Amino acid sequence: MKTIPLNRRAFLTTTAGAAIALAPGLAHAQRTGETPDPSLDLYPAKRNEKFALDRPVTDEKINGNYNNFYEFNSSKQVTRQAQALKIRPWTIKIDGMVEKPMEVGIDDLVRKFPIEERLYRHRCVEAWSMVVPWDGFPLAKLVALAAPKSTAKFVKFTSFLDPKSAPGQSSGNLDYPYVEGLRIDEAMNELAFIATGIYGKPIPNQNGAPLRLVTPWKYGFKGIKSIVKIEFTGNEPINTWKQMQGSEYGFYANVNPNVDHPRWSQATERRIGEDGLFARKRPTLMFNGYEAQVGPLYAGMDLKKYY
Ligand code: MTE
Repeated sequence: MKTIPLNRRAFLTTTAGAAIALAPGLAHAQRTGETPDPSLDLYPAKRNEKFALDRPVTDEKINGNYNNFYEFNSSKQVTRQAQALKIRPWTIKIDGMVEKPMEVGIDDLVRKFPIEERLYRHRCVEAWSMVVPWDGFPLAKLVALAAPKSTAKFVKFTSFLDPKSAPGQSSGNLDYPYVEGLRIDEAMNELAFIATGIYGKPIPNQNGAPLRLVTPWKYGFKGIKSIVKIEFTGNEPINTWKQMQGSEYGFYANVNPNVDHPRWSQATERRIGEDGLFARKRPTLMFNGYEAQVGPLYAGMDLKKYY
């Protein structure tokens, strides 16, 4: 799906000769022959000012062309290839230790909760960072909808599996489908977010359409893209990067300037779009600047051990 220009003055002449105003996405669809995104009317969503930030938002073009999405390739330039992923129809299965297992289509799910915009810091384990305006809803609302049983301790997320559309899935670069997980109390934290949009529009494929996880106090690899399954479990799920290289990538993946990656320091970072290629000059913030919100989740834990 391409970025859809919001041309509010788009008009189409009907066969009867009368001009009628169309929703912007619909006009774009008429021009290009694409199916319009059924959730277009939800964007842009109202910004939640509670999540205002101290730094400028990363340019949309930069963010949309510098992505990690290994299902397509591992080069950061996935935008073109990622368009092959078909994002409608899209069903999300919610099951495991819950009172209300369900299968829900993305266009039903996205209308169950009010959509809001939040500005979040985004920090990759590779020591680069951005500032992203996400649109979506708190993960806690989805957890409440599923009504986990008291035996559920973790939430496991699974991405799509479709090697025909996603050539990286047959390349051996990672094990697929991509899997991630959170402890239930992490999933209920107010910062944990399901993004269905970005920059005031439905989220494009390269950023994880039609829905992805956003946990801004953790390294970006926790933010699993294009989710098809959310399962409540009693045991800690084995996330893809931990499975790939457990000595370098853990389950927790909390942003922490004091716990280095075995191959590089995490004390500093490079802000994409502002800093030069080798300019890692910004100090990394504990929990990526979200210590007040999430610090208590890890009270008493050895964060060097649980990295
Ligand atoms: N989700 C899936 N399914 N596949 C991936 O390769 N990469 C992760 C995460 N989610 C990845 C994924 C990594 S390493 C990062 S840093 C972020 O997505 C990148 O998100 P962005 O491209 O929106 O910046």
